[in-house]
Amino acid sequence: MILQRMATRNHRPTSRRAPPKILFILLLIIFPICLLGVFTYGQKITYFFRPLWDKPPRSFYRIPHYYAENVSMEHLCRLHGWSILPQPRQVYDAVIFSNELDMLEIRWRELNPYVTKFVILESNTTFTGIPKPLFFTSNRARYAFAEAKIVHDTFSGRVANRGSHEDPFKLESWQRTAMNGLLRRSGISYGDLLIISDTDEIPSPHTLKLLQWCDGIPPVMHLELRHYMYSFEFPVDYSSWRATAHIYGPKTLYRHSRQTDLILSDAGWHCSFCFRRIQEFVFKMTAYSHADRVKGRDSLSYPRIQKLICQGDDLFDMLPEEYTFKELIKKLGRIPPSASAVHLPAYVIANAEKFRFLLPGGCVRSPD
Ligand SMILES: *[C@@H]1O[C@H](CO)[C@@H](O)[C@H](O)[C@H]1NC(C)=O
Ligand SMILES: *[C@@H]1O[C@H](CO)[C@@H](O)[C@H](O)[C@H]1NC(C)=O
Repeated sequence: MILQRMATRNHRPTSRRAPPKILFILLLIIFPICLLGVFTYGQKITYFFRPLWDKPPRSFYRIPHYYAENVSMEHLCRLHGWSILPQPRQVYDAVIFSNELDMLEIRWRELNPYVTKFVILESNTTFTGIPKPLFFTSNRARYAFAEAKIVHDTFSGRVANRGSHEDPFKLESWQRTAMNGLLRRSGISYGDLLIISDTDEIPSPHTLKLLQWCDGIPPVMHLELRHYMYSFEFPVDYSSWRATAHIYGPKTLYRHSRQTDLILSDAGWHCSFCFRRIQEFVFKMTAYSHADRVKGRDSLSYPRIQKLICQGDDLFDMLPEEYTFKELIKKLGRIPPSASAVHLPAYVIANAEKFRFLLPGGCVRSPD
């Protein structure tokens, strides 16, 4: 039947068919709309198709990490296949500081019992070449508890000329070079333990203690940190890997990139954009290495930022950086809030009133 009908249709004369004008008109409308779409959402479209154009970084070998309260150091070292040292290593903690005043206090309070020297470098410009107040210098009194251990220097950054465009990654790399110099002057010796990370990438105290006490640990390893956004109320995933622990040697360099395939699991916290004031969010958004993500003045309005923080939504209206469609779609949209304040830095829990904004239910920030 059907075949027969198709056959008769094919035999109809075709000369009467309407000219395809309507197609032309449709194309004329659709094409500019598509073009407009690509211009406004170009970045989003390319990011959405990342799984097609980008390969994921080589995967890490994750070192299993054992810890429980009240288990002896010797036993913990042995569980990792290491042995215990007769004396703990000296520990140096090195950060390049921007404006994370609260995170720096939590970091130093948390790590103070294990650290020999806190090495901190602060620049008077941002990575994007904008003059920047010396936030650490003007708030130094807040860190008096660690004063005897602080090795501090300021870096004179380069101010971008009007109209010209400093390469943020270049300025970042000069600061890292300056940090290598400061480290050498800090009194560090070969064989000491060196933590290299951003201020908001905080190894847990028991991780530091393990690395300080165990013999046979790898000379370089990344630290896998639990990643949070805005506060400990919004856990993202375990994807943070840039922090590293080194046995300091002649080849150790301050870098924030991939250095080895080894990563120690569950080794601490990375709290991104964990600021007390909206003003600090705005500062970081404009100073950020990826400052090209800030589109227009609208995106810096205080009420907009406050709303996004409480919703666990993306400040930059960006798609997550994922390499499979499955992961990308899983991560789209808001970060589901958590009600857990367990296994967080002890100093935050002991001073929960002071750090309300980092805990579940505390998303409302003061403006400045
Ligand atoms: C910790 O160890 C001590 C001594 O071995 C023991 O008395 C104590 O009950 C242990 N505490 C916990 C919480 O297991
Ligand atoms: C940064 O510090 C250096 C040295 O103190 C100074 O010469 C320079 O003008 C400063 N830059 C800014 C932007 O304040």
